[in-house]
Amino acid sequence: MNDQQRVLLIIGGGIAAYKCLDLIRRLRDAGIAVRVILTKAGAEFVTPLSVASLAGDKVYGDLFSLTDESEMGHIRLSREASLVVMAPATADLIAKLANGLANDLASTALLATDKPVIVAPAMNARMWLHPATQRNVATLKGDGVTVIEPGAGALACGETGPGRMAEPDAILSVILDRLADAPRPLAGRHALVTAGPTWEAIDPVRYIANRSSGKQGYAIAEALARLGARTTLISGPTALDAPAGVERVCVESARDMLAATEAALPADVAVCVAAVSDWRAAVGGGQKLKKNGAPPSLELTENPDILTTLSRHNRQRPALVVGFAAETERVIAYAQDKLARKGCDWIVANDVSHDTGVMGGERNTVHLVTAEGVEDWPTASKSEVAARLATRIAGVFARKP
Ligand code: C5P
Repeated sequence: MNDQQRVLLIIGGGIAAYKCLDLIRRLRDAGIAVRVILTKAGAEFVTPLSVASLAGDKVYGDLFSLTDESEMGHIRLSREASLVVMAPATADLIAKLANGLANDLASTALLATDKPVIVAPAMNARMWLHPATQRNVATLKGDGVTVIEPGAGALACGETGPGRMAEPDAILSVILDRLADAPRPLAGRHALVTAGPTWEAIDPVRYIANRSSGKQGYAIAEALARLGARTTLISGPTALDAPAGVERVCVESARDMLAATEAALPADVAVCVAAVSDWRAAVGGGQKLKKNGAPPSLELTENPDILTTLSRHNRQRPALVVGFAAETERVIAYAQDKLARKGCDWIVANDVSHDTGVMGGERNTVHLVTAEGVEDWPTASKSEVAARLATRIAGVFARKP
């Protein structure tokens, strides 16, 4: 299992950028992965090549790089990190963050993150002491950002005074403290998540599939792992990378998904998000169907229901079983029916009619349906929905031995 912590390091433009090379090395020595955004100004002081070699990863620099945005957008860069560090934080970067400006990769990633942010300022003493900078720093502190105060001494500009960036050792110790701080209420628990579509073979080249992207299920797996759960993600075919800290098992068909899910038991909690195909071809032939004469008729047979199997498991039922209900009409009524029929504890119901854009999209509007009633959650990003659900799950286990 990979539960490695990861720091997103934003290197700004300042002579102190050289200290970040040492910081990267120390972080990696401490077993922490490092991903770097090197600002344009930062790249005037350290080269992308030295940063990439030390980080062991490519360096991100340009918001509008098509390859970067398709491989790894600013949202993912900030979400996949355990925390974000900006060092050296220039007066300009601090001012942008304090005012919510976002016009390059560094500033958009900072604005998009939901993780702790640490900044290590470095600048000329007068710039640091300027009321505007001091106001901005106070705003950041008020926003919950950890500011590692710069030290006093000789500055690269020839003046003396406060403005020297903290040493890598000091920054590392603040990072380690913050990483240890992160609450892990699901530590010691095992979470199972199914996600994505299933593919049901019709013949060796054709299959039945659906529009599920896997995004919501992956976000839930990531959120559970972040709260400390050992998380197994049983995934149908998707275009997504495995989230940090999650053990992924890749499958194609519903029957494979069921086998992988049962093999992963016991689990404390199971969240079935996968859009499992209800049916498969009755005869998934070994040879490609030929186009001669009339179109063949496709006989279907029912697939096993993974959620029901888990909910009604007599030896290894997870303490909490959560299902999803994607509906295009009568969302709540169908969800309540599903709760009773499948025997799970909660149903997360959402409207997937075409105009909601939920399928494949980034946002979701859900209702949590339990035996106690229905909660309507506000529309939010799939990762926010995931974080909220993971926190609710952690609440259940906080009351269990
Ligand atoms: O019956 P329906 O497909 O609408 O139920 C949706 C819920 O059941 C989801 O949680 C889905 O992951 C789960 N399910 C399953 N196995 C199936 C069909 C649905 O686990 N074969």
